[in-house]
Amino acid sequence: MLKLENIQMQVDDDSGEKFEILKRIDCQFEKGKVYAVTGPNGGGKSSIAKVIMGIYKQSQGHLYLDGEEISDLSISERANRGIGYAFQQPPRFKGLTIQNVLTIAAPNADLIKVRTSLRDVGLCPEDYLDRDLGAGLSGGEIKGIEMAQLLLRNPVISIFDEPEAGVDLWTIQKLLKLILSTYKGNPNKTAIVITHNENVIPVCDEILVIAGGMIDAKGTPEQVWKLIKDDIECKVRNQCQGEISYAIK
Ligand SMILES: Nc1ncnc2c1ncn2[C@@H]1O[C@H](COP(=O)(O)OP(=O)(O)O)[C@@H](O)[C@H]1O
Ligand SMILES: [Mg+2]
Repeated sequence: MLKLENIQMQVDDDSGEKFEILKRIDCQFEKGKVYAVTGPNGGGKSSIAKVIMGIYKQSQGHLYLDGEEISDLSISERANRGIGYAFQQPPRFKGLTIQNVLTIAAPNADLIKVRTSLRDVGLCPEDYLDRDLGAGLSGGEIKGIEMAQLLLRNPVISIFDEPEAGVDLWTIQKLLKLILSTYKGNPNKTAIVITHNENVIPVCDEILVIAGGMIDAKGTPEQVWKLIKDDIECKVRNQCQGEISYAIK
């Protein structure tokens, strides 16, 4: 189980003033479950993922993996413990082919697995394995390759950051099925899917709504989904007012 305890994070704004992007995050992610993390843009979802992965360092609070504190571990140490993160905006690596990056991500995976991981994200291996990961690939293709790396690595805790962004509907459905069949009820694994997708949220085990750097609501899809749906029309208005509020805490 992954536990976040009182996670707070401050950054400097343009004028050097400190401001909090995560205010007090207390939550836990259990094995065998698929979690949806949703909420308005700028709410802090990717920042939480980056704190879990060790890309961002929290200003206060603690992280525990299976009871062991991992707060001070580096990114690679956390990766070795089985935490994996597919970026919302993946970097492009010029000069490396797609086969290169997939093999680097999972050195023990054979070519059959490498090819399957590409098919799982809607990319035909014959068309992509030898292509350069630099310019010339669309945002959706880069996103697919990022997710293929995570699927290949098959970590204990997998965080998918907006897998739907730039990815076609057919692939999203396929990916969703794959995530559910891989993680739901699996006693060794947890999936955290940061998403705005209406098809994804209702089928997850638990939903966390993050807004303004805090957990604004959490619960089962039945508890939380109606609130989100009701809120969709007035989301922009609420954002403009600088707050979003749900009934369930
Ligand atoms: N490294 C950073 N430096 C300064 N501000 C940041 C940094 N990372 C995130 N933020 C700010 O923190 C807030 C939350 O960002 P983010 O976690 O990316 O939100 P979300 O993923 O929910 O859209 C935003 O206002 C964003 O601009
Ligand atoms: Mg984000």
